[in-house]
Parts: sequence; structure tokens; C-alpha cells
Amino acid sequence: MWVEGAFEFFIVAIIGLTLVSMNLLTRRSAEKSVMLQALLVMGTGVIGVSHHYWWVGMPDYWAPIGSVFSTLELLPLIFILYEAIGQYRAMTASGGFTYTLPFMFIVASGVWNFVGAGVLGFFINLPLVNYYEHGTYLTVGHAHAAMFGAFGFLALGMVAYVLQLSIDPERWDGSWLRASFWLWNVGLALMVFVSVLPVGFLQLDVGFTESYAAARSLAFYERPLVQSLFWARLPGDTLLIAGTAVYAADVARKRFALRRSEDDPTVDDMAVAEGIVGGDDD
Ligand code: HEM
Ligand code: HEM
Repeated sequence: MWVEGAFEFFIVAIIGLTLVSMNLLTRRSAEKSVMLQALLVMGTGVIGVSHHYWWVGMPDYWAPIGSVFSTLELLPLIFILYEAIGQYRAMTASGGFTYTLPFMFIVASGVWNFVGAGVLGFFINLPLVNYYEHGTYLTVGHAHAAMFGAFGFLALGMVAYVLQLSIDPERWDGSWLRASFWLWNVGLALMVFVSVLPVGFLQLDVGFTESYAAARSLAFYERPLVQSLFWARLPGDTLLIAGTAVYAADVARKRFALRRSEDDPTVDDMAVAEGIVGGDDD
């Protein structure tokens, strides 16, 4: 309920708010798209979560209801991807735009939301797949791409945005944060597509041809091919951890060494952010 309903709605609202504060979107169109997406997300996600009811022994009829509604969850996610691409174009078109870095995180969040929650969620949600894949590495792939991809990147982007607002423009250096952005994106893609999903597909195959129990047995994980695929996690996971170390070090450095002084008149930049909470439309 949290990740597919409430938090998906929150993500649309917070992205709308940020884009208005960056002057990339008018308040009115942000409001319209937030309302539309709230309807879609709530309408599909709240009922769609019933694809999890299997675990708590709810009656059979929840399976088809859960499948249909969570398949519809792809719709708002397509809009989110579409919006992310539009936002990217807006950013590249407006030359003097200074918040490129936080903006890259927002676009990444939209893209991973589509790939991780939309495409991979959709795939494991197909009844024939879902019946055999519960708790397998296909779920692990979906979980990592959706959780870190959609929500992780958004939260980290918000941190980058607030940091940039609170540091003098001439002292701002986004190079470390940019490096961590790419370490994370490449790392997550390697983790999910080179190691986790291939294990998941092998597991699904064993589920189909042998049994669900065989797919989750220790014997499956001890197969040489599966063991090699687990080792193939090493490069991607290392990049993810490296990205986290670089980001954490840079946030600490900026927070303690580069913070704007309270009486600095350039703090007026914050007025940009305040504009969105002011009373006037546009
Ligand atoms: C950003 C949004 C999402 C996040 C963060 C997310 C995260 C997760 C996580 C952590 C799990 C594992 C839970 C467990 O093992 O009990 C899970 C399972 C699942 N998710 Fe998502 N999810 C998202 C959106 C979606 C969407 C949109 C769909 C369908 C289109 C979907 C379909 C599923 C299914 C079918 C399972 C169950 C797999 C199983 O039984 O092993 N998810 N999700
Ligand atoms: C180097 C980084 C990471 C490593 C090595 C790692 C490793 C793992 C492992 C081994 C599992 C258990 C899989 C199983 O069921 O057998 C797992 C599950 C999970 N991880 Fe990660 N993880 C990493 C990063 C992350 C990040 C950044 C997030 C989200 C912000 C995340 C979210 C999850 C979730 C939601 C599950 C549960 C999936 C499920 O229920 O099937 N992980 N992770």
C-alpha cells in the first residue's frame, strides 16, 4: 500500500513541487498533473496491492483483481516516464539552468520507476509468472530497481537540491555528486540486469519445468551457473557501495565546510523556493 499507492502519489507531488521551484513548470500544470496522477495511482495502486494478498491467505478472487489492477499501474508510470523525458528536454533547452544535478536525479527516478516498478513489476505480476515466482530473484530484481531506483534517487536528488540552495553559487561544486550519480546508475543496472534477473529467470524456468520447491531449494542456489551469476554481482554492487561512499563524503564536506553563513544576503535565492508556497498562482 505504501510503495504502490501513498508513496507513488508522494513522488508525483514532490517532483511537481520541485519543478515549479526550479521554474521548469508552471504551478497550474503541476497541479493538473498531480491531480490526474493521484487519481490514476490511487485508483490502480490501492486495489493493485491485492497481488500480495496471496501471502496472507486471502480468498482466491483477489488473485485476478490484483493482477488486473496492478497491471493498470503501468499507466501512471508511463506518464511519469513521459514527463521525465519532457523535463529532460526542458532542462537541455533552457541554457542558464543551474540545478542540472538535482534534476538528473529526478529524471533517473522517473526512468527507474518505469523500468523497476512498471516493467519488472508488470512482468512478475503476470499470473503465469507470478504463480511460480513468489520470493524468487525476479522479485529481488524488481524490488531493487523499484525501491532504490524510484524512491532512492528521488530522496538523494532532494538532498542534492537543498545542498545546492544552501551553498554559495561560486563555491558550489557538483562533481562528486555527479560521480556518485553515475556510479549508482551503472551499479544498479549491472546488479539488476547482469546478476539478479538472470538468476530469477533460471529460477522461473526450474519453477515451470520442475517445481516451485525445486526453484527455491538450496540445490538450485548451489548450481555452478547460479554461483557464477552471484559472483557477477560483485562489480555492480561495488559501484553502488562506492557511489554511496562518495556521496556521503561529499554531503559531509558540503554540510560542514561550505555552508552559507546565515547573514549572507545571497540567501535570497531561497525566495525561489518560497515562491511555490506563496499565495499567488503563477
Ligand atoms: C516504486 C514502486 C514499487 C516498489 C518500491 C516495489 C517494491 C516491492 C518489494 C520490496 C517487493 C517485495 C515484497 C515481498 O517480498 O513481500 C515487491 C513485490 C511485488 N511487487 Fe512491487 N514495488 C513497486 C511497484 C510495483 C508495481 C507497479 C507492480 C505491478 C505492476 C508491482 C508488483 C509486485 C509483485 C507482483 C510483487 C510480489 C512478488 C512476489 O510475490 O514475490 N510492484 N515490490
Ligand atoms: C550493494 C548494495 C546491495 C546489496 C549487496 C543488496 C543485497 C540484497 C540481498 C542479498 C537481498 C536478499 C535477497 C534474497 O531474498 O535472497 C536483498 C533484498 C532487498 N534489498 Fe538489497 N542490496 C543492496 C542495495 C539495496 C538498496 C540500495 C535498496 C533500496 C534502497 C535495497 C532494497 C532491498 C529490498 C527491498 C529487498 C527485499 C527484496 C525481496 O523481498 O525480495 N537493496 N538485498
